[in-house]
Amino acid sequence: MAKRTTSQPAADPSVLLGTFITFEGCDGAGKSTQAAMLKSRLDTEGKDAILVREPGGTPIGSRIRELLLEPGASVAPVTEALLFAADRAQQVKDVIKPALRKGKIVISDRFVDSSLAYQGVGRGCGLEPVKNLNDWATGGLEPNLTVFLDMSVEDGLARVAGRELDRIEREKREFHENVRYAYSMLQRIYSYRYITVDATGTPEMVHQRVFHEVSKII
Ligand SMILES: Nc1ncnc2c1ncn2[C@@H]1O[C@H](COP(=O)(O)OP(=O)(O)OP(=O)(O)O)[C@@H](O)[C@H]1O
Ligand SMILES: [Mg+2]
Repeated sequence: MAKRTTSQPAADPSVLLGTFITFEGCDGAGKSTQAAMLKSRLDTEGKDAILVREPGGTPIGSRIRELLLEPGASVAPVTEALLFAADRAQQVKDVIKPALRKGKIVISDRFVDSSLAYQGVGRGCGLEPVKNLNDWATGGLEPNLTVFLDMSVEDGLARVAGRELDRIEREKREFHENVRYAYSMLQRIYSYRYITVDATGTPEMVHQRVFHEVSKII
């Protein structure tokens, strides 16, 4: 093994110097829109930020995404939870943790809380098993800040009504109401990292609300 000739301590690869920000909320609340607007704003301000989305931010993740979202596919709730966790495990290892180690700001369009809400509560898998599964998949990685975009299920679904809906978006109204209820619980459980933002109004208005909160931690 090569002898170190410097007095500098070796960089600890387990130290995550960056800031991890996640966007959560029901379908159509504006997560993808706001995550992209935040990324552009941070770029403008000269910050080193990356934007990731899930499922599907890695080559294997894109294949998992197809399996998960294909309309008409028969996917058991536990299979769904495992596939989301598998996608997340790959993305955390290949993309998110390496970026955080370099001190970057990582913005993720959905993360573990989506599984807690959709598979844990919406599908009835239970919060605890889904949390344990995801802790294993991500090595317990937790966001520094979670932006919860809150709006009624009805208004969110109206926003996406014009586009071709995926398998989960096509679920009945009650499913989406349960997901929204789950987010209200998560917001209380993880109050130390959650901020709830009113998702109504124009994209620019919502962005101003989001940026006001984000700028407090970066
Ligand atoms: N503030 C807003 N006002 C009106 N329309 C909006 C607003 N924000 C986003 N939209 C539009 O609503 C639709 C849904 O937005 P977006 O895709 O960002 O939501 P999402 O939360 O990412 O949805 P999903 O959960 O399906 O991924 C898009 O067509 C988008 O252009
Ligand atoms: Mg989206």
